[in-house]
Amino acid sequence: MGERPPGGPLLGRPDGALPPQRAGARAHRLGDHLGTQGIGAAAFGPGRANLIGEHTDYNGGLSLAFALQQGVTVTAEPRSEGITGGPAVFVRGMAAELRAAGFELQPVELTVESTLPEGAGLSSSAALETALCLALIGAAGLEPPDDRRELARLCSRVENRWVGARTGLLDQIASLMGEEGHALRIDFRTLEVVRIPLVLGDWRLVAVPSGESHSLAAGSGYDRRRAECERAAELLGLSSLRDATPETAADLPAPLDRRVRHVLEENDRVETAIAALERSDLAEVGRLLDASHRSLRDLYEASTDAVERTVELLIAAGAAGARMMGGGFGGSVLALFPPGAEPHVGALELRPSRGAHLLH
Ligand code: GLA
Repeated sequence: MGERPPGGPLLGRPDGALPPQRAGARAHRLGDHLGTQGIGAAAFGPGRANLIGEHTDYNGGLSLAFALQQGVTVTAEPRSEGITGGPAVFVRGMAAELRAAGFELQPVELTVESTLPEGAGLSSSAALETALCLALIGAAGLEPPDDRRELARLCSRVENRWVGARTGLLDQIASLMGEEGHALRIDFRTLEVVRIPLVLGDWRLVAVPSGESHSLAAGSGYDRRRAECERAAELLGLSSLRDATPETAADLPAPLDRRVRHVLEENDRVETAIAALERSDLAEVGRLLDASHRSLRDLYEASTDAVERTVELLIAAGAAGARMMGGGFGGSVLALFPPGAEPHVGALELRPSRGAHLLH
């Protein structure tokens, strides 16, 4: 791949302008004795879990997601020239997008370490993007913009234009804006983000890999569903499915009618889940996870045999609810366990954690 992105649609506002700011104190403090060598930086980008609200982000809908304690650490050490190391497409894309947004980057060598399983639907790529972005900005002695949604759009451009996955903004917003003990209600029409306390007490949220690696690339099931939603919006004369109604959706040809029904009902489930969390009704959250899964399986048709087996095992082990998470067609299953019930071996406990940050 050359220095130009392969193209593809922009997400969010096409301006993408990020006013880079000099980190006064930081640049001054370190610039004095390091001269043109620049400074080093390390950043952590968490993976994300989506409690509910799946395949809604690219339809202008709602999600309730959180950042994980597991993630990717990127270390940037000053070098005399070039930006080297790390996964090439991500690094080239991130450097190009940051420069296009006005950041003057410094030469560094990158090292990447991860505590996230890849292809498991926990957004290892968004975690890499957010850590990379903060590390490159930090190593240049610059400050990221205060509004992290700007950075989310930039990271998403790397994913869309360079990596070639037409994903929405869910993963990048959750990874960048996560807060300990909270989930984020993200409204993808307005990009309003509201913190919702996620108090689990003795309940546990876990992710269990289905054993099937998923893909979000061009031609994947994810990509086909996204195209179907675009077609449905076009037939309905809408700019996004957020404005569709159950009545108009019912007139669409199959399977578009089913896809739209999923999106509309999933948006409603996000609001119902927030109300349940507000009254600490975790059993109801479990029922909503089950309903979301049935919809993803039957209306959105994004499940696989391996995912179904994993859901069944988790319910048999006593989960109050379980559903496929992320782009579908493989990846991990999210399950909510009441006190006393034991998730099976291999379950990764998920705790709502702080968003991407500089380590030094
Ligand atoms: C993947 C994508 C997200 C979102 C989910 C489905 O995680 O990266 O943008 O579309 O799938 O909700």
